[in-house]
Amino acid sequence: MTIPTPTRNDKFSFGLWTVAYPGRDPFGEPTRGDMDPIYALENLARLGAYGVNFHDDDLIPFGSDDSTRTNIIERWKKGLADTGLAVTTATTNLFTHPVFKDGGFTSNDREVRRFAIRKVMRNIDLAAELGAKVYVCWGGREGAESGAAKDVAAALDRYREAFNVLGEFVHDKGYDMKFAIEPKPNEPRGDILLPTIGHALAFINTLDRSENVGVNPEIGHEEMAGLNAAHGYAQAMWQGKLFHIDLNGQTGPRYDQDFRFGAGNVRGAFWVVDTILAGGYDGPVHFDFKTPRTEDDKGVWVAAEAQTPLSSSVRGVLKSKCTGPS
Ligand code: GCO
Ligand code: MN
Ligand code: MN
Repeated sequence: MTIPTPTRNDKFSFGLWTVAYPGRDPFGEPTRGDMDPIYALENLARLGAYGVNFHDDDLIPFGSDDSTRTNIIERWKKGLADTGLAVTTATTNLFTHPVFKDGGFTSNDREVRRFAIRKVMRNIDLAAELGAKVYVCWGGREGAESGAAKDVAAALDRYREAFNVLGEFVHDKGYDMKFAIEPKPNEPRGDILLPTIGHALAFINTLDRSENVGVNPEIGHEEMAGLNAAHGYAQAMWQGKLFHIDLNGQTGPRYDQDFRFGAGNVRGAFWVVDTILAGGYDGPVHFDFKTPRTEDDKGVWVAAEAQTPLSSSVRGVLKSKCTGPS
């Protein structure tokens, strides 16, 4: 079977943080240098990507002053125009800075909760300006390490309040933008709230503007919880809630490996593609992976290129099943 060459019609998209991941892990310093975001755009365009997405802090270092921020954004816009890449989604970093040590929307500290919502609003304005239609929310720090550290019901009230405020904000501004919650069971917190697709779907039902909120499931996160990712994607679609996807690889319940798509549980990867195609998902086909820290810059681009074929091939196989032999 020939492996198709990716084109923009495949709608492949990559997080800026994925290709720019410098190889830092909890036990080791980075093994690769900082990556210029424009260099990332150029290489992604070369590989046939359609889109890119980013956390606010991936692009604009935390604490940048207004003029630095403006200059970075102008340069980014020029890079997007030059490469023709779309901004498919954007998201907020509510996990790296020490102020978020106990979470953003669910921090026990009210001042931190307010700051988190403000940080998201600021980046939603930028996301809307850049044309993103989906705003991803991964609550990596929304959790606890001990039973007494967080009142779960109060935390969920606060989580809901944050989404209700942000839902009003997007509505008032007239943005054509939906939210996609990304579940994860643990890491970096011992236990994270909204740990699976099912928890997130149930939570979404309680929101004021629930029609504007769906999920962004990551294959590896469901598999960390020992779950069948394809079944989770199928239920999300069945409920009209699959607003975005994070494809990657994982080998069962252990730390979040963020392998490239198709590594780890390859049969599971196949069934996710089959499921989303059969269900009519037509959003960006997004990869959220980390190139191993043993690789150099060349390895980063080999890894980026390596994950598109499985997705394209399964699509090709299914298409030929539908249309018959040509
Ligand atoms: C993870 C998460 C993150 C999020 C990203 C977008 O691997 O733990 O998937 O990569 O997708 O922060 O919000
Ligand atoms: Mn992950
Ligand atoms: Mn992800």
